Amino acid sequence: MKQSLRIAPSILSADFSRLGQEIRAIDNAGCDRIHIDVMDGHFVPNLTLGAPIIAALRDCTTKPFDVHLMVNAPDHLIGDFISAGSDMVTVHVEATPHVHRTLQVIRNSGARAGVSLNPQTPAVAVAALLDQVDLILVMTVNPGYAGQTFIKGVLPKIAELRAMIDAGEHDIDLVVDGGITPATARLAVAAGADVLVAGSAVFAGGPERYADNIQALRV
Ligand code: DX5
Ligand code: ZN
Repeated sequence: MKQSLRIAPSILSADFSRLGQEIRAIDNAGCDRIHIDVMDGHFVPNLTLGAPIIAALRDCTTKPFDVHLMVNAPDHLIGDFISAGSDMVTVHVEATPHVHRTLQVIRNSGARAGVSLNPQTPAVAVAALLDQVDLILVMTVNPGYAGQTFIKGVLPKIAELRAMIDAGEHDIDLVVDGGITPATARLAVAAGADVLVAGSAVFAGGPERYADNIQALRV
């Protein structure tokens, strides 16, 4: 069943020279979880951060760390990310041939398990995984960078996943990530999203704007 809307700022758009303060600021501004984008320079062209930085940030907030692994063959990294304090670990269905096993590893290690789909990957790619996942993260940009434009062609897939989750009465968050603004937030929520990830829309204008920026996404 669809839950009330939750907002997960992506720290990819934060000031990396003051990440701890940025996390405290979005926590105080009323975010629901903290989205952390991990990129390996292979699955996506960009490189970001690893488990030691997540461990260093863990004491800055009690809100859940929602870790989005945009890395090939993620299995060997999962233990480190969970030890570092990740509450949710999401892997891409395109990044491993044995995603069912990967999801089991995440749950068995004590975190919530997520699976993500690139814009071109159809909903059916996760149809056999609905009992194995706690969240489905739908990319509405090609992963790799913040600040890209929302791909509206993904909206029917969001609706399709909403219908699959509801038909099976699964307890799964339907997360939309990429190009979220107040306008596209409306479209994503209308299609069935119950968690929105937003980087540039939350961090625009600096800390004094964060509360208003988050509120503007609560459609
Ligand atoms: C993209 C990342 C997103 C990104 C969102 O690869 O997965 O989480 O940071 O940034 P915006 O909201 O600016 O598109
Ligand atoms: Zn992300």
